[in-house]
Amino acid sequence: MNKKVLVTGFNGEIGSKILKELVSLDKQIIAIDVNDSKGKIESVKYIKDSILNYDLIKSIFETNFITEVYHFAAILSQSAIKNPGLSIKVNEGASKNLIDFAFQNAVKRNFLCKFFFPSSIAVYGPRKIKCASEQDIIKPSTIYGHSKLLVEQYGSKIHEKSKSIDSGLDFRSIRFPGVISFDTIPSGGTTDYAPQMIHAALKNQHFDCKLSPQTNLPFISINKAIYSIVKLMNVKKIDSTLRVFNVQEISFTAKDLSDVLKEKFPIFTVSFNKDKKFQSVADTWPSSLNCSMSKKYWNFSTEVHLKEFIEKIIEKIK
Ligand code: SER
Repeated sequence: MNKKVLVTGFNGEIGSKILKELVSLDKQIIAIDVNDSKGKIESVKYIKDSILNYDLIKSIFETNFITEVYHFAAILSQSAIKNPGLSIKVNEGASKNLIDFAFQNAVKRNFLCKFFFPSSIAVYGPRKIKCASEQDIIKPSTIYGHSKLLVEQYGSKIHEKSKSIDSGLDFRSIRFPGVISFDTIPSGGTTDYAPQMIHAALKNQHFDCKLSPQTNLPFISINKAIYSIVKLMNVKKIDSTLRVFNVQEISFTAKDLSDVLKEKFPIFTVSFNKDKKFQSVADTWPSSLNCSMSKKYWNFSTEVHLKEFIEKIIEKIK
C-alpha cells in the first residue's frame, strides 16, 4: 500500500494552503471537508463529508496507509460561541477520534504516524498577558480555547504512550495567533478583524471594527504559518517533551493597523464599535507570544516590522 497523507478541513484558510504545499512535495493526499472543493487538484482524492462521520474516518484509516495527518477541520472561536454543542463535537470529539484512529492504525502497522494539530492563542487566559510562554496557561475562557487545550493535552498524552511502545502517534502542534491571508477573508474568528480591515482598505470600503482601538493581539502571515507547519513536521526528532509551540511574527493594536492602512490609503475610513462578544474574547488572549521554544527546538525565525508586514500582505493581495 502506498503512503498517504490525510488533510481535514481542506477548504479552510490554512487547510487549502497546506494542501497545495503537500502536493508540491509530491505527497499522495486524501482530503476531507464538509464543503465541496473550489478548484480540484488532479492527484488529490477529495471527500466531501463531515469529520463527524465516524464510520468514514474509520474506513479511511483501515483502507489506506495513512502516515501523516494534518487536521484543520474546526469551528472557530466566534462560531463556537454561537453553536457550542457543534463546536464541542467537532473541535473535541472528532479530533480525539482522529487521534485514536491514527494511533491504533500505526500501532497495528508498527510505525509512528505524524499528526499535526493547529492549536491557538485561545488556550491562554483568563487574563491578557504579554509575551506568553507555552506553560503560561491558567484557564481558557472560551469554549473554543478549552477544546483546543484539551486536544493538545490528549495528543501529547497519546504521544508519550506511543514513545514507550515505539509506535503510534508522533504528535506536533502549533499555537497560532491571528493568521492573515492574501486570497481569503476569514470569518468566524476573533482575530479575523485584521484581514477583514486590510481587505476593506484595498477595496476602499469603510470598516467597522468590533474591537476597541487599543486591543493588542499577535499575528502571523499565512506564508509564515505554512512555513512553520512544514518546518515543524519535517524536523526529524523534537528534542523536548514539549509538543505544542508558539509562533508569531508581529503584535499590533487595531489602531496601529488602521493607522498604517490610512497612511497607505488616505480615503480609507474605520470606525470602532466594540462588540462585547468579540472584545471579551480578545481581552483574554495574549498581546504577544514568547517564541523562544520554537526557535530553540525547530529553528523558527522571524523579524518583521508592522509597516513592512502590512505592505508585503497588500502587495500579495493586489
Ligand atoms: N484565529 C482564531 C480565532 O480568532 C484563533 O485561533 O478564532
